[in-house]
Amino acid sequence: MKRCYKCGQKAVVFLKHHRIAFCREHYIEWYLRRVEQTIKEFRMFGKEDKLLVAISGGKDSLSLWDALYRLSYSADGLYINLGIGEYSQKSLQACKNFADKRGLKLHVLDLQKEIATIPQIKEVEKRPACSFCGQLKRYYMNRFARMHGYTVIATGHNLDDESATLFSNVLSWNIEYLARQYPVLPESDGLVRKVKPLVKFTEKENALYAFLSGIDYVEEECPFAEGASSIEHKKILSQLEEKSPGTKLRFYMDFIRKFHALLGHKEVRLRPCSLCGEPTVSEVCSVCKLKEKTNLKTLSSLPNS
Ligand code: AMP
Ligand code: FES
Ligand code: ZN
Ligand code: ZN
Repeated sequence: MKRCYKCGQKAVVFLKHHRIAFCREHYIEWYLRRVEQTIKEFRMFGKEDKLLVAISGGKDSLSLWDALYRLSYSADGLYINLGIGEYSQKSLQACKNFADKRGLKLHVLDLQKEIATIPQIKEVEKRPACSFCGQLKRYYMNRFARMHGYTVIATGHNLDDESATLFSNVLSWNIEYLARQYPVLPESDGLVRKVKPLVKFTEKENALYAFLSGIDYVEEECPFAEGASSIEHKKILSQLEEKSPGTKLRFYMDFIRKFHALLGHKEVRLRPCSLCGEPTVSEVCSVCKLKEKTNLKTLSSLPNS
């Protein structure tokens, strides 16, 4: 039987790659301290900042919101209702329950009211749902945060997400994406600062934190996630991790600490979209283009059109 390295009581968690075991209480303490260290290491934000946590109802983002709350940061939540049937309904309910239980403020943005649901857009757009969905989420998170005076947007991206993205960007040597892959993206030209305080935690570590803290989260994955290449990349990295614990953390953190700075800082000039005013690299932003496509489809399906 493993014992907690802090108090000697029966351990409930053994972290292979850190080679430490914890009881419930000391795992939570370790997790919170590591979140705080990450925030400080990358100078993500301070107690004076007004944070907006983007929450999906899953283990990562709810653990993040919980940790920020326990660490006494001022953080409200934003759930974007993507209109993906039962999956979105369940997720919304999990977010509401979480916020109610802790007396936290939750904003809900309905994609249907802004443009259309993900399944409706899927009918007019050839790209995989995850790709335009990601774009829409980033757009509305940023617009919402800026309009409501939030200075920082925090997301629950974890080590599995970030190392898989890094792997994919290295496979294609996508220098532009590699240069943008960092736990903090500073504010600029209408973009609110974005931070990822959970980059040093694996999916499993976040799930453990959620479980041991009594957080009710939605376990199901989005039905459109199936077949995404990121899942294959995650699988490969998890196999390596299994054989050599610590591989994911080393791969990602060594990139951040040793390599990222060598890529230099290439300024991307953004300008306001001529239709909606949101920052973009082209005349009309990608969300306004999607809106146009979706409207055309709605018009063509009307009788006598
Ligand atoms: P994903 O792109 O689904 O891996 O999610 C990455 C992060 O984006 C999550 O950890 C959340 O912080 C945020 N996020 C995902 N889905 C939503 C949503 N429906 N509403 C608000 N934030 C979200
Ligand atoms: Fe956006 Fe799955 S969460 S397509
Ligand atoms: Zn202990
Ligand atoms: Zn636009």
